[in-house]
Amino acid sequence: MTPTTTTDVRSLVRPNILTLIPYSSARGEFKGNADILLDANESPFDNGHNRYPEPLSTDIRMALAEIKNIDPDQIFIGNGSDEIVDQVTRIFCNPGKDSVVALPPTFGMYKVAAGINDAEFRAVNLLPDFSIPVSELKSSWDETSKILWLCSPNNPSGNLMEADVVEDLIRSFPGIVVLDEAYIDFVPEASFLPRIDEFPNLIITQTLSKGWGMAGVRLGAAYASKFIVTMLRAIKMPYNINVLTQGVALAALKQPEVMRERVAILISERKRLERELPKFPFVDHIFPSVTNFLLVRFVDSDKVYRHLLENGIVVRNQSYQPNAKNCLRITAGLPEENDRLLEALRVL
Ligand SMILES: Cc1ncc(COP(=O)(O)O)c(C=O)c1O
Repeated sequence: MTPTTTTDVRSLVRPNILTLIPYSSARGEFKGNADILLDANESPFDNGHNRYPEPLSTDIRMALAEIKNIDPDQIFIGNGSDEIVDQVTRIFCNPGKDSVVALPPTFGMYKVAAGINDAEFRAVNLLPDFSIPVSELKSSWDETSKILWLCSPNNPSGNLMEADVVEDLIRSFPGIVVLDEAYIDFVPEASFLPRIDEFPNLIITQTLSKGWGMAGVRLGAAYASKFIVTMLRAIKMPYNINVLTQGVALAALKQPEVMRERVAILISERKRLERELPKFPFVDHIFPSVTNFLLVRFVDSDKVYRHLLENGIVVRNQSYQPNAKNCLRITAGLPEENDRLLEALRVL
């Protein structure tokens, strides 16, 4: 049965997590104003980071709430979306009993998180054009299946999953659907976020690592019902987002136009690579992408990979992934970096 109410979603949570008494941090307990802080055994010498960070990244949630037009209590901030992938698995999967379902080739951390948490990982391969094999997928899950991982736009294929199919899956999956929108800043109109309240069993994850250009600060966000956000808060490390990250991320979120300009440059560079790469005889196929990267099938991907490395250029080998034989994933870089990529390929 598809969970359609908070009560249904609550029944999917591991019983020990539901009854967990979360760690209560000194800064979390403190309400009101005080100018002398003797509550957390910190150092009093002000160097900009002698105090523990605000536990719920409230300033960041407020900024994102405004940008995304959503209630800040429906936002959870994680140490990268990687942390959220692990947390969601821990909240819903009873180790040794439950399963998760994902659609390779896709982002690798869903499987790693299942492995860490001793959840069975059920893989239903995407079709050769990287669309979803809906009926095969629907017959893969059962009452042990707690999470369905959907990645749209998908890494490494770069395509969006069809909105109708995504909606149908959210409405038919008997557990939590996580829609990973890590690359959504390259195609914001495709986001499911404006519809989050229609689906009590939906968690949307996004990140500052891609379009926002801040992979180094480690900041991801989950958008979901208030109940699911409460569960994510209950199991997080007390101070998961450090002071430096909160400061840098907040400053960037105040300048969304900088992000948009850079996203536009990267999209135009990806399109240039899409036009230029097919001119090489050793390029077999370029998969359509809406992101900042391209999945490219070569006649001999190992040869291209080695040649690029010899020229100081590293791309990601995806050949081991289903339906991605002889494929390399190439991220759009700066214009001059992409020039060098094309120059290197000209002398292969
Ligand atoms: C689809 C997808 N989800 C999540 C992530 C991880 O993002 P973060 O840097 O926020 O942990 C990546 C990073 O490559 C990704 O490709």
